[in-house]
Amino acid sequence: MSQFESEIKRRRTFAIISHPDAGKTTLTEKFLLYGGAIAQAGQVKGKKNTRAAVSDWMEIEKQRGISVTSSVLQFQYGGFCINILDTPGHQDFSEDTYRTLMAADSAVMVIDGAKGVEAQTRKLFKVCVMRDIPIFTFINKMDREARDPFALCEEIEKELGIDTYPVNWPIGSGKDFLGVYDRNKQEILHFSSNTNAKKSGTTQIDLDDPVLTDMLGQARRDQLIEDIALLDGASCDFDLNRVRHGKLSPVFFGSALTTFGVEPFLEDFLRMTTSPLPRHSSEGEIDAMEDFFSAFVFKIQANMNKAHRDRIAFLRVCSGRFDAEKEVYHVQGKKKLRLSRPQQLMAAEREIIEEAYAGDIIGVFDPGIFSIGDTLCSPGKKFRFDPIPTFAPEHFARVRPVDTMKRKQFLKGAEQIALEGAIQIFKLPYTGMEEVIVGVVGTLQFDVFQYRLRNEYNVEIRMDTLPYEYLRWIKEPVEFHETDLVLGNDTKLVEDYKGNKLLLFSSFWSIKWVSDHNPQLVLTEFNERS
Ligand code: G4P
Repeated sequence: MSQFESEIKRRRTFAIISHPDAGKTTLTEKFLLYGGAIAQAGQVKGKKNTRAAVSDWMEIEKQRGISVTSSVLQFQYGGFCINILDTPGHQDFSEDTYRTLMAADSAVMVIDGAKGVEAQTRKLFKVCVMRDIPIFTFINKMDREARDPFALCEEIEKELGIDTYPVNWPIGSGKDFLGVYDRNKQEILHFSSNTNAKKSGTTQIDLDDPVLTDMLGQARRDQLIEDIALLDGASCDFDLNRVRHGKLSPVFFGSALTTFGVEPFLEDFLRMTTSPLPRHSSEGEIDAMEDFFSAFVFKIQANMNKAHRDRIAFLRVCSGRFDAEKEVYHVQGKKKLRLSRPQQLMAAEREIIEEAYAGDIIGVFDPGIFSIGDTLCSPGKKFRFDPIPTFAPEHFARVRPVDTMKRKQFLKGAEQIALEGAIQIFKLPYTGMEEVIVGVVGTLQFDVFQYRLRNEYNVEIRMDTLPYEYLRWIKEPVEFHETDLVLGNDTKLVEDYKGNKLLLFSSFWSIKWVSDHNPQLVLTEFNERS
């Protein structure tokens, strides 16, 4: 195998997803510890309310204790080069999660063993299943009282429509947690509550061995044997092919805080998951091993560093090798260019890089030319990767600056934040008013919008929420004036910044009413528009 091939083969790029507080940061930190990327626990996140800056760029994240933006971390472990994509742990950012998942080849779902699939994050987890990529489940906090493991697996299967295969099985939980039984290795991994220990003791054991009674006590032994028999009989067989297609999720029980079960999880995960997957494009599948470079933009983030007022486009390298010395072709912009200051990110820390391989995530300085979904490739190639779908906004608000003198900054900020894909902005046609209608997928994005305008653009805004929930495009070309349309009180005509007209509706029923009363109108769903 050439060095080029082995570099790509050893790459593992995955997204990590969880409900806030399930333990994603703690697990990520333990991964980094194993990889030697950090020297001690606590570097990713400090004590409560003093979350260190590593994956929390924005102040609002610190205030709310939630992760709003996604960050990227790269580290080496056991010969693998691992790229972790962090995702926001709140359902209001499920679109951001979806985009991040587009850049990943697999996903790790962290679930709190006491809580299971929490109502608020169902949407996020579902987004994960939508991509058909391998999904690995880490059921965390087993050192605390947890729910019945069968019930937890059943819930994942029912809620997400994916089968589960428990790779290990817990022996008790909370005060009675003794460890896990590894079904493949047929060994018991003993729990010891040592937050700094890297390795836990193991005992290879045949479940029929009488020694098991000495180790666990009669009742625990009987329970474990019964559980494993039930699992072997009733649960799905392990099928790597189904894992690779996102139909079967290997489940692991552990405790990130006490570093229990983290290393076996990481090892099994790296073994079972895939190296960089091929990606769809206008010219068919593009394999990671192709000898030309290609990548797509999956995220744009402005003002990550307030002092520099910069704008970074995040690229997923899909094929070949990226060489910072060479020019690339920006397909949508129809221009050859040198990517400026290509960098790999260790969250807030950035390192300028010379090269990257398929599977890697790199950030490049964006002078305002890139959009989400854009393709970059070696000159001579002209294909486009499949577009990244956008989610239709479901909440709308009318927004204007409190100080009318700040109109310019206000519009600049709103347009910039909209370009990042965090919000959609519209205006009222024919009125010439200074208002902007903002549409978001989740209401928390309104808070982020308001906060960012204040902090990054120095603009205070007034925001009035509107009662609309649905949006439809008016298919062009339709010559009409607002007064020609028969619209109810619960419908509003708006226009995007390219001049396309849309209608906002407050109920599903009113869409039908407007269609019936305006036979000349052809309405299309938000996502049907590219
Ligand atoms: P998140 O990124 O998913 O939001 O979760 P995070 O890792 O920040 O963990 C949330 C809380 O749960 C933290 O406690 C963390 O220490 C705790 N935790 C994580 N994994 C485990 C585990 O395996 N067992 C137990 N018992 N607790 C765990 P905190 O009090 O909110 O923060 P801190 O003061 O400990 O930093």
